[in-house]
Amino acid sequence: MFKMPLCRPAMLASLVLLAACGGGGGDYHPPPPPPPIPVPDPDPDPVLVKQGLEVFRNNTFGDEAKWSDTLRLHEVLDSCVDPNTALSLGLKVDVDALPPELQQGIKNGSVDLGDPQTTVKLIKLGAVVGLVGKVEAGYGRDMVTRVGVTCALCHSTVDDSLASGIGKRLDGLPNRSLNIGAILALSSTVSAKDKKVFESWGPGRYDPRYNLDGKNGPVMIPPIYGLKGLRSITYTGDGDDVAYWNRYVAVTQMGGMGHFDDARIGVDVTNGDVDLVGPVLPALRAYQLSLVAPPPPAGSYDMGAAARGRALFIGKGQCVSCHSGPQFTDEALHSVLDVVSEASYASRSATKQYRTSSLIGVWQHAPYFHSGEAATLEDVVNTYNDRKALGLNPQEIADLAQYLKSL
Ligand code: HEC
Ligand code: HEC
Repeated sequence: MFKMPLCRPAMLASLVLLAACGGGGGDYHPPPPPPPIPVPDPDPDPVLVKQGLEVFRNNTFGDEAKWSDTLRLHEVLDSCVDPNTALSLGLKVDVDALPPELQQGIKNGSVDLGDPQTTVKLIKLGAVVGLVGKVEAGYGRDMVTRVGVTCALCHSTVDDSLASGIGKRLDGLPNRSLNIGAILALSSTVSAKDKKVFESWGPGRYDPRYNLDGKNGPVMIPPIYGLKGLRSITYTGDGDDVAYWNRYVAVTQMGGMGHFDDARIGVDVTNGDVDLVGPVLPALRAYQLSLVAPPPPAGSYDMGAAARGRALFIGKGQCVSCHSGPQFTDEALHSVLDVVSEASYASRSATKQYRTSSLIGVWQHAPYFHSGEAATLEDVVNTYNDRKALGLNPQEIADLAQYLKSL
């Protein structure tokens, strides 16, 4: 569990607390209709992609109403969270937003990463990935007076090129070190019960339904690269386009201004009286579909073993019966009885089933399954071998795992 140093956030008396939104008979049976022919996604318009990048990285949709007015996290960021703490919570710093002297100072140790005022400076520079803060002069120093979050908080990381947690942005890669639960638990306004739940999540995990159904079962933040051409969105295939989740998360989780409803899960949320989410969804979609999966690093798998593993993937392992096609997914929903991972998350979803995950770039984002219950790809194959009684021997298990590492 993450423990914060004792700290009393500075009170900003001038801040007004805004309400956070609050035919014929016979024996003839017609054949089933043919499956719909997927419409290929056109190559996204580069102008729209560029707008989408801006939205993805910098647009909070007005969610400061939640993160500042309700959770008051700007106060914590202003005075309690030094950069070392921020990095240990999994927050990332964009090196390209740092002036050369600051980069140099971080490299040679002359910049104090133990001083909360350095965090304020980073926020002012717009360098903390996924956080957009307003910094104003007050009480003789710069102060964070408001903060909101963007999509990049969860779905970007950095390449660690300057230091651990500080580097160039890698959009689309899940931030699997981000301890969003520990960050939420820093808020002075969450109840003791919620705090306990948030502190139970751990890095890389987030429960995007807890605030709606009250059940605690966090899932791994997924990668969002390689989605072009896919129609089934989320672990449980609740949406048939990224826009479904984008609206869901922006309004019901981030707290952005707009509207989301889905009668299947009994959710109907409206924040504010303007829609800051709907109008930017096309650009956001174009950007997401432009993100490609990172190829496996050279030398990261054994080619001979991977070739043998491929034969097992198609043959004895029966993997291809679900992981078919160019993205290794039939995009079908499968009953929890046929899926090897834990079942409870599906029961909270609209479909109550799991969608076959794409395996493109799967080497990149351990741990595996929505629940993160398999630490490695070897563990994944072992799980299938046990639960589906595939009869793979240790050599075959190793070969199949090598194949997965090559995708
Ligand atoms: C607090 C962390 C968090 C934030 C912020 C967030 N997401 Fe997600 N995202 C998740 C989690 C967790 C899931 C998995 C939910 C599920 O499948 O049930 C997810 C799922 C997705 C998916 C579905 C991927 C797939 O394989 O089907 C897409 C696309 C996506 N997010 C894009 C976005 C965009 C765009 C934004 C900004 C509007 C955003 N997310 C904001 C945590 C986050
Ligand atoms: C009945 C259909 C089905 C079969 C057969 C199947 N899978 Fe899966 N697979 C799924 C579904 C559904 C998921 C998503 C489950 C989840 O997220 O919890 C999944 C998830 C995975 C993941 C995790 C992906 C991630 O992003 O975490 C890997 C790896 C994987 N499968 C590999 C395999 C291998 C290897 C085989 C053959 C031994 C196989 N699968 C057989 C349906 C199937």
